[in-house]
Amino acid sequence: MSKALLPLARRSLARNAVRRSAVNAHGGRTLMTLPAFSLEGKTCVVTGAARGLEGGKASIEHITEHISSQPTTRDYKPELRAYACDVTSEQQVQDTWKAVVQDFGRVDVVVTAAGIVENFEAENYAYDRWKKMMDINLNGSFLFAKEAGRHWIEQSIKGNLILVSSMSASICVRPQKQAAYNASKGAVSLLGRSLATEWGPKGIRVNNLCPGYMKTDLIIDLLEKEGKHIEEGWVKDVPMGRLAHPSELQGTIVWMASDASSYLHGSDIVVDGGYCCW
Ligand SMILES: NC(=O)c1ccc[n+]([C@@H]2O[C@H](COP(=O)([O-])OP(=O)(O)OC[C@H]3O[C@@H](n4cnc5c(N)ncnc54)[C@H](O)[C@@H]3O)[C@@H](O)[C@H]2O)c1
Repeated sequence: MSKALLPLARRSLARNAVRRSAVNAHGGRTLMTLPAFSLEGKTCVVTGAARGLEGGKASIEHITEHISSQPTTRDYKPELRAYACDVTSEQQVQDTWKAVVQDFGRVDVVVTAAGIVENFEAENYAYDRWKKMMDINLNGSFLFAKEAGRHWIEQSIKGNLILVSSMSASICVRPQKQAAYNASKGAVSLLGRSLATEWGPKGIRVNNLCPGYMKTDLIIDLLEKEGKHIEEGWVKDVPMGRLAHPSELQGTIVWMASDASSYLHGSDIVVDGGYCCW
């Protein structure tokens, strides 16, 4: 079973740095909306952020290099840490959560990204594979959500939970046959909306991020298995005419995690280049 690594970022962007960039770009004027996008002082947990321990180190290096290469954040040193955890094991999730809270004191934002995809026609879908899909995509999301919710309720923290769902929560992509994946993501999205109704009154926000085709390792692996020709078919179905680079989710997820989206709650945010419009 693959292990999740959870790089954590604390004090993600110094507010001053954001202000400075606004001033530079707009001739001395400060854009008053930009500070609302700041994640300064927040501890963020991301599940499924890397494949294995080496991948965790590489993710941390990549984020650190990216931050130090930007003129506005050159001097900022994020606190990032990786934890090994199989999201399908309740014990491991509980132990990991405890370790994170011990290390960082509290958690403000949780993004559940750990997930798998595979394609088999329904009539031949092996039941153990079906269960594995549900275990990782749905149960793993629930186990982390549960730890987060309990922590936020006990500590009276206005936490922010983002469940990584998919455009496959609401439509069936083609031509690949992936009933289990689609069902798991449909359930993740409804889990998110259910938690929004339960935890909203306590000031905890819950939303679902529903990406379309992003060229991550997951999609690169899938294309290797299915054959490159499948990408050409996908692109025809995307009104923007291309797959996304993973970095194209950054702006959306920062917006969802920050006060800039303070009234966003119980929503599916679809980022799919228009795929769901057909
Ligand atoms: N790439 C896309 O086009 C796309 C589209 C829609 C939704 N998504 C969703 O985005 C999320 C991230 O996917 P990605 O594209 O970055 O894929 P990825 O394969 O690069 O990342 C998924 C991560 O989940 C981890 N993981 C798998 N099983 C685990 C387990 N039992 N415990 C802990 N971690 C486990 C893997 O190690 C990996 O790091 C997934 O939930 C996926 O369904 C991806």
